[in-house]
Order: sequence, then structure tokens, then C-alpha cells
Amino acid sequence: MTSIATLGSHCSLQVLKGAKDEGLKTILVCEKKREKLYKRFPFIDELIIVDTFKEVLDQKCQSILEENNAVLIPHGTLVAQMSSEEIESIKTPVFGNKWILRWESDREMKEKLMREANLPMPNPVTEPKEIEKLVIVKRQGAAGGKGYFMAANEEDYNSKRNQLISEGIISKDETLYIQEYAAGVLAYLTFFYSPLKEELEFFGVDQRHESDIEGLGRIPAEQQMKSNKVPSFNVIGNSPLVLRESLLDEVYKMGENFVDAAKRVVTPGMNGPFCIEGVYDENAKFTSFEFSARIVAGSNIYMDGSPYYSLLFNETMSMGKRIAREVKIATESKQLDKITT
Ligand SMILES: Nc1ncnc2c1ncn2[C@@H]1O[C@H](COP(=O)(O)OP(=O)(O)O)[C@@H](O)[C@H]1O
Ligand SMILES: [Mg+2]
Repeated sequence: MTSIATLGSHCSLQVLKGAKDEGLKTILVCEKKREKLYKRFPFIDELIIVDTFKEVLDQKCQSILEENNAVLIPHGTLVAQMSSEEIESIKTPVFGNKWILRWESDREMKEKLMREANLPMPNPVTEPKEIEKLVIVKRQGAAGGKGYFMAANEEDYNSKRNQLISEGIISKDETLYIQEYAAGVLAYLTFFYSPLKEELEFFGVDQRHESDIEGLGRIPAEQQMKSNKVPSFNVIGNSPLVLRESLLDEVYKMGENFVDAAKRVVTPGMNGPFCIEGVYDENAKFTSFEFSARIVAGSNIYMDGSPYYSLLFNETMSMGKRIAREVKIATESKQLDKITT
């Protein structure tokens, strides 16, 4: 029988609980320092204790995974802590498309795929001297908003960048990505594409709470002006959101466009969970600033099922369980190669 494995962080509890509920064996690649935490959860059948997550590439770890017919579920921690080359070299079957994770990590490639999918995007800014409107400056990969900053012009950009370098938060030779700031209501739209059913499901929406940009909003302008701290977008947690029903049709269209574009650009396409992240402006027009090509931690809100999945399934269905269900069906019908890379 197939088992489900993932790295101990991000959404691993949800993923393994969902797998257990589907009757699959569960394996957690766990850092020593978190052993005590994860031992609290009885649905985790086996822990592979490591010093760092990169050990998932080592023969020892890969053999254990192979013996267990494991499918590895990629999430944000894998993308943040490993290079694209390392991810692509993983021998354990990876759920979804490991090749598309490079398109998530590299901001230029990301922009290209979003364009291919016709997603409405904020304008990218190629050089600091071209900053005319308020911009957000980001790092590569899924850095989780740490060290990102806003700038109003080139001078502002340089002084904030220098400040963050001197504080050791970003490095001098890091390539930063500059994008116009899009104001509005944050909405992170999560989907699941099943290559077995050739169908797109809309799972739900979450909002990210990011520190200390949110903390700043609670301080009167007078004190904000006196602060010389560069606020970052470090994600702390998530909360649920539902959309006006009239927005749903466009949401599905964006998801479908993304799946179609990914099929053209990076075989075998966007299989499994993914998230289109952006804001709705005052005219309810969506602008997307990025995507994640795997499960996002925002799905942790819906461990007991999301509002939109309760419309599609007559049972509790988390994203972790949905993934396990897909693995189970593929195993039974001998189509694992269709849903893994
Ligand atoms: N163009 C933008 N306009 C407004 N806010 C943005 C924009 N891009 C990013 N953000 C904010 O910064 C956060 C992190 O940026 P994001 O591109 O999602 O990077 P990450 O890959 O680290 O998640 C977002 O969750 C959002 O709050
Ligand atoms: Mg993001």
C-alpha cells in the first residue's frame, strides 16, 4: 500500500491527518528539535528524525520512503529550504508537479507563467530608478514575506534596502524583485486540479496575517511617522474568508486559465493543489501578485472542510484528505504516475 510522507512543518499535521483518515500509512520527516511536538499526534505512524530537511535527499531517507511506497507531499517549507535543483533530484515520487516548483521560486519565471495564464497582475518594475508609484520589494522563493519592504521611489528603496542589509535580514548580493503595490482586500484562492478526473475544484479562500505590516495599521499616523523600522510581511497565521457569490465565476475562470497555461508551459501541468494570491480593489477587480504551485498553509483553517468543499463533497474534506483521496484512487487504478513526478 502507498503511504504519505511530508516534512514536519507548514501543513504537515493536516496532510497526515487527512492521509490517516483515508487509511494510508503516514510518515513525517521530522527535525530533532520538533520530535516532541509531533509525537503528540497519534495519526503519525512513523517519524524519520533528521538534523535538517535536506537529509530527505540522502540515500538513507530515500530508502525508507521507497520501502514504504511513499508519495512525498511538497509544501512551502520544501520550497523555502531547498533549491529547485535539489527538489528536482528527489527520487521519491512527489505529489503534483515538482518541475513547476521552479516556476514558483523564480520570480521572473513566475511572472511569465502568470502572463501565460492571463492573470491580471501588478506591473513589475525592472530597476529601482524606474519606481514611480508605491512598490513592494520581494525576495526570491517562498521567503514568507520576511525582509520584503515597500518603497515610494529610488531613494526610499536604497535606504530601506541598506537598512535591511545592515540588520542582516537580506544579503547584499540578493536579487530583489520589485512590483507595484496593489491595494485592496487580500484574497488567497485555493484550488485543486485532478488529472484523474480532469476537473478543477475551488477549495476556498484565506487571508494571511503578516507582521508587522498589520501591527503598523493599529498605530496612529503620528507614531508611524516617527518610526524608522522597515515593516515586513512575515506571515504569522491565516483566517477564513468567503467571497461574494457573484465573484465565483471569475474565480473558476482564473483557476482554469492557470491550469491550461501550466499544461502548455511545464509538463505535466498544474496537478493537485495550488493558490492564486491577490487583492480585490474597490470595483471588485482582482489583481494577482503571485501563485503557489502546491498546498498552502492557509488550507489549515479548513481541517474540517471548507465552505466550498462542503458544496462539492457530502463528507468532511480537508485539502490534506483530498490529496490522500487522489493518491488512493490513483494507487487502486494503477495511475500513480499520472499524479506524481
Ligand atoms: N503587489 C502587491 N501588492 C500588495 N501586496 C503585496 C503585493 N505583493 C505581495 N504583497 C504582500 O506581501 C505578501 C508576501 O508576498 P508574496 O508575493 O505572496 O510572497 P511569498 O512568496 O513570500 O508568499 C503577500 O501575502 C501580500 O500581503
Ligand atoms: Mg505568497
